[in-house]
Amino acid sequence: MKKPFVAGNWKMNTDSNSSVELGKCIASASLEAAGHDVTVAVCPPFVYLQAVARALSASSVAVGAQDIYYEPKGAFTGEISASMLKDIGCTYCLCGHSERRHVIGETDELINKKVAAGIGGGLLPILCVGELRAEREASQTNEVVTRQMKNGLAGLSAEKVSAVTIAYEPVWAIGTGLTATPQQAQEVHDFIRKLLGQMYDGRLAEEIRILYGGSVKPDNAADLMGQRDIDGALVGGASLKADDFLAIIQAAV
Ligand code: PGA
Repeated sequence: MKKPFVAGNWKMNTDSNSSVELGKCIASASLEAAGHDVTVAVCPPFVYLQAVARALSASSVAVGAQDIYYEPKGAFTGEISASMLKDIGCTYCLCGHSERRHVIGETDELINKKVAAGIGGGLLPILCVGELRAEREASQTNEVVTRQMKNGLAGLSAEKVSAVTIAYEPVWAIGTGLTATPQQAQEVHDFIRKLLGQMYDGRLAEEIRILYGGSVKPDNAADLMGQRDIDGALVGGASLKADDFLAIIQAAV
C-alpha cells in the first residue's frame, strides 16, 4: 500500500520569520493529525530552506527545494546544486514546475538533467508535468504529458526512476481557482501510470506516486485524492495557510 504524499510549494512567498513559523505549525499539527500515514513535505524559497530544515529536523515533515541545478559545483552564478541541498537537510526537489517551464523557459532537456542530478545527489525529485489550456482544448493532453514524461526521464533506469514522484499539474488549474474535476485528473493519472508501465514495468508503475496539483483546497482534496490513481497532492496557494494545508493532509489519510 502506497503512503499518500502531500507537498506544499510555497513558491516566492513567506519571509525569514513566517517561513519557520509556518513550517513549525505544520510539523506539530500534522504529526497529531495524520501520524505516519502520510508523507508530508514543504518546499520553501531557497533562502529560507536551511532555517526551515533546521526547525523541522526532529519532525516527520520533510523539506524540498523548488528547483535545482544539474552541475555539482563550479562557475554557475546563482545556481544551487543537489549536494548543497542535501547538505542542509533537503530531501526532495521539484523539477520542471510549470512556472519554470512557462515563465522561466526551462526545456524538457534541462529538466531531464535536473532530475538525473537530483537522483545522483541523493535527492528525491518530484517531476511536474501538465498541459496548457490550449493544449487541453486541442485534445493534446496525453501527447504533451507523454513528451514531458519521456523526455524528463530519458536515460534513467527503472531503479533510478523509483526515486521519483510525478506531479500532474494542468497549467490551466494552477493558481487560477480552476481545478480539474476528479474524473479529469483521474483520466490523466491513469494514462501516466500506464505510460510508466510501458516505459518501465508494471510494478514500478504501481509503486510510483503520482500527485495532482492545481488549485487543491480543503474542499476538493478528498474527492481528488479519493481517485484510484491519485496518490496525493502538490499544493501551492493553500499550503501557505497552515489550517488549509493541514486539512488537505487530513483528507489524504
Ligand atoms: P496552486 O499551485 O495550488 O496554487 O494552484 C499548485 C502548484 O503550482 O504546485
